[in-house]
Amino acid sequence: MKVFTTRKTIQKELSSRNKKMQIGLVPTMGALHAGHLSIIEKALKENDLIVVTIFVNPTQFDKKEDLLNYPNTTKNDLTLLEEIKCDYVFMPSIDEMYNTEVKADTFDFDGLDKVMEGAFREGHFNGVGTIVKKLFEIIDPDRAYFGEKDYQQLQIIKKMVTKNKFDIEIIPCNIYREKNGLALSSRNARLNRGQMLEAPLIYQTLLSSKELFQNEDVDIVKDMVKNEFNKSLNLELEYFEIADIETLMPAKHKSTGRKYRAFIGVYADSVRLIDNIALN
Ligand code: PAJ
Repeated sequence: MKVFTTRKTIQKELSSRNKKMQIGLVPTMGALHAGHLSIIEKALKENDLIVVTIFVNPTQFDKKEDLLNYPNTTKNDLTLLEEIKCDYVFMPSIDEMYNTEVKADTFDFDGLDKVMEGAFREGHFNGVGTIVKKLFEIIDPDRAYFGEKDYQQLQIIKKMVTKNKFDIEIIPCNIYREKNGLALSSRNARLNRGQMLEAPLIYQTLLSSKELFQNEDVDIVKDMVKNEFNKSLNLELEYFEIADIETLMPAKHKSTGRKYRAFIGVYADSVRLIDNIALN
């Protein structure tokens, strides 16, 4: 495994390869867990060589506190990547990615960024778009892998690829969960014991919402979810939406022939957890 910290060196390495070798890219912010590793394994199977990037991107954090508290486990990350037989790691500094101006570009994602995560985290998706676009330009992969854990991010990246005419296949990856259903997240490490014990409620409620949605309309499902979280001591519901899987527009009523997903954002004190599930 080779580790690079500058654009120049990784580009030099990639351009010296046999051009028939296909490259898979897995962007991450480090603090790697089994969810990341499941994506990396998929990328390893489907490509001749892969690049995993580790970069905690400042422009996508709407809260300074969240950025400051973001876990940094670089040594462990590199051990895990070595063990899994990752080919290349790209872990640039902030200066390397942004030069002097640490600022996000403004994107038009056709409204995908105006709801849910976008509504509650101002500027977040412009930050994501900025860094992923830079990574695509530097690495020029054949495929790039993103988790459905961040379903809205995945749709936004697909939009950015279409609008910029990037010749990159975006590969969605399943959500990896603990046995108790909690979706793995680097932020789970910040949960205290009580929060950790209650956190499986998020996925349990998503499963209940899926069941209820088979026979009931959106409002009834939303009320059920609100009631569940009203009973919780440690978790506070930020939003629950049922949205069209393509446009991400929250639905007021079910329409036949449409595909929906449920999306949830929850606070455990200052720790924000998100999850989602296909409903039909
Ligand atoms: P990060 O949160 O580190 O996630 C990196 C990738 O892992 C994302 O595609 C995310 O959806 C995926 N992922 C996280 N938890 C997962 C789980 N439990 N199951 C499956 N996939 C999971 O997402 C980001 O970083 C950043 O926004 C990034 C795209 C790197 C841009 O900075």
